[in-house]
Amino acid sequence: MPNSCWITGASSGIGRSTALCFAKNGYTVFATARSSKELDILVKKSSSLSFKGKIIALPLDVTVSKEVLNGIKFIQKECQNLDFIILNAGTYIKEDSKYATIESTKHVIDLNYIAVLNHIISLQPYISTLNIKQIAVVSSMAAWRGMPMSAAYSSTKAAIKTAIESFEIDYSNTGVRFRILYPGFVKTPLTDKNDFKMPFLMDVEKAAATIYKKLLYSDKFEVSFPIIFAVIMRIITMLPWPIYKRLMVRKMKK
Ligand SMILES: NC(=O)c1ccc[n+]([C@@H]2O[C@H](COP(=O)([O-])OP(=O)(O)OC[C@H]3O[C@@H](n4cnc5c(N)ncnc54)[C@H](OP(=O)(O)O)[C@@H]3O)[C@@H](O)[C@H]2O)c1
Repeated sequence: MPNSCWITGASSGIGRSTALCFAKNGYTVFATARSSKELDILVKKSSSLSFKGKIIALPLDVTVSKEVLNGIKFIQKECQNLDFIILNAGTYIKEDSKYATIESTKHVIDLNYIAVLNHIISLQPYISTLNIKQIAVVSSMAAWRGMPMSAAYSSTKAAIKTAIESFEIDYSNTGVRFRILYPGFVKTPLTDKNDFKMPFLMDVEKAAATIYKKLLYSDKFEVSFPIIFAVIMRIITMLPWPIYKRLMVRKMKK
């Protein structure tokens, strides 16, 4: 029975490349996103490359509980060893807090926070039957402190990080690991919309290979990449508030 993983947000960007990377390395990948058309293209691509593993399209909306439950039931029929679950689906809306709307704020909270927790909670009764070993959640370095134009994004990524810390504590000694991933800037359709210079912008295939390598071969709870940018960001986000604020305000004026 081949090893399997479930990746959300697999129709594009980080999730798509990570799905291809796991399939290349022999995994059966359940690839989730809303767009079945994009997932079908991904399935065709993986089979044309004659990978050791394969990709199975599992289209659903992660913000709809019933669809997530149906997805779990589908996977249960197909496999008994779902080693990795990578909860990656998420979004960023650039929004000046002075003009923030509750609609866009709720949209970001629903996808980046509520949907991730709902997914984990829905999976809990199936942890032993599916032999789940790791649940990894894609946060962001924007979780480390409030970033400009990112009130909803930064706060949801920080909230999910805190929740995953609690899960990892509560699940200690159960055989299930929770991991949290902090990408810096990765070149994807999401960041292609950004109109500012993105330092240390990472190639998406390199980001996917890092995720694969770290989930399989590293024991660290927190995985940040690229490493140099992570070190710089850790230092910046630990600065005393007046200095941090001045730095961010100056960055906004550039
Ligand atoms: N790129 C970066 O620099 C960067 C940095 C830090 C963190 N991140 C995080 O990494 C993750 C992936 O980002 P990305 O840059 O790869 O973005 P992306 O290219 O925009 O991909 C987002 C994925 O999420 C899926 N998705 C959105 N809403 C969904 C829903 N309701 N149900 C199911 N799937 C949904 C999208 O597919 P459909 O539209 O087909 O549903 C798509 O596959 C996000 O959580 C993001 O916050 C990215």
